[in-house]
Amino acid sequence: MNPFSYGTVARGDNFYDRKVECTRIVETLSGGNNLVLYAPRRFGKTSLVFKAIERLERQGFICIYFDFMPVFSPESFVRLYTKALSMKQTNLEKFAQTFASIIKNIRPLLSFNAEGSPEFSVDFAGSTIDETLIAQLLDMPEKMAGANKRVLVFFDEFQEVEKLGNINFEGLLRSRIQQQRSTNYLFFGSKTHLLKELFNNKKRAFYNAASQMSIGSLPEEDTIAYLQRKFAASAIALDTETAQYIISVAANIPHYIQLMAAEIWQYTVNSHHKVTKKIVDECAKRLLALKNDYYMELFDNQSRSKKQLLQALRINGKNIFSTAYIANHRLPGVTTLQRAVNGLINDGTIEKMNNEYFITDPFFKLFLANT
Ligand SMILES: Nc1ncnc2c1ncn2[C@@H]1O[C@H](COP(=O)(O)OP(=O)(O)OP(=O)(O)O)[C@@H](O)[C@H]1O
Ligand SMILES: [Mg+2]
Repeated sequence: MNPFSYGTVARGDNFYDRKVECTRIVETLSGGNNLVLYAPRRFGKTSLVFKAIERLERQGFICIYFDFMPVFSPESFVRLYTKALSMKQTNLEKFAQTFASIIKNIRPLLSFNAEGSPEFSVDFAGSTIDETLIAQLLDMPEKMAGANKRVLVFFDEFQEVEKLGNINFEGLLRSRIQQQRSTNYLFFGSKTHLLKELFNNKKRAFYNAASQMSIGSLPEEDTIAYLQRKFAASAIALDTETAQYIISVAANIPHYIQLMAAEIWQYTVNSHHKVTKKIVDECAKRLLALKNDYYMELFDNQSRSKKQLLQALRINGKNIFSTAYIANHRLPGVTTLQRAVNGLINDGTIEKMNNEYFITDPFFKLFLANT
């Protein structure tokens, strides 16, 4: 079994660090406040939140995790949120009764799945999903809390609420949240610029609605120790310099560190006793080859100014609007450049962190170096 994993939530032994961040989440929510968590894609938000949920559940909180990504309409929100609410219930019958007493327009259904466990779903039966119904549903966590429990709701990829634009979901949720005494919320997601717009724009319903925190890369020395420990368990040596090299190829992004490490482990496990820089390069090349066609298309589809900008960002992402930077990299004027930046941020190709722009996928960056 490969000791490294990526593409899923990091749990148990595969999760390291983030202690301070985890405590911050636990304390803010258990203290009765709402929180927004920012971080670029693949930095480990969902994994961290799952860790915090484990701790909060041990403290007796009812925790509801909900991912906005698959939501595409008010109906789908109702269906999926209801499911998420019912997931943690031990007594589904009681939950169905509470549900029916609060939400009049849709019928709760209890059925049994193939394994014989009860499942909860809803029957819309032609009823319209209006603001009253959504408001009732948004109050369900508060009702579930009852007299002496507290409920915590974790909204992943929260920026996707924009997809519910036709029913003033934002305003509705904000007003319900303000009324709720036993429920607190953590909002997080991977489109930092959209989340910031939701919570920092004075004109938006969520302006100042939650305290804010962000997470960055994992501390380098801990990543080195983690990688060395995992490789050592398979009798493969990894010196500090080579470990640092892996981290730099992966742009110090948790997901890509694991992806690289998994590939290197696979490459070395039966034939090598030591990881070398040459092996790291070879594995990076292999991973790049897997996505080469995709990157080619991605790059081809960009406008000329975006192409120029991407090539510039590959080298350096600081002060990109300065006259010197624009001249050095033969970039277009500020207005066109700003448009190119916004476009690439919106589709997730680049990100801004600590006043520096960077290409979110280090393998795309590697691809650009050969283009
Ligand atoms: N604390 C951690 N310890 C070890 N690996 C981690 C940690 N956090 C994240 N990772 C690695 O990064 C990958 C992505 O983590 P996760 O899905 O939690 O990130 P995310 O920020 O929610 O990503 P996305 O932007 O895709 O939603 C994990 O599969 C794992 O390989
Ligand atoms: Mg995530």
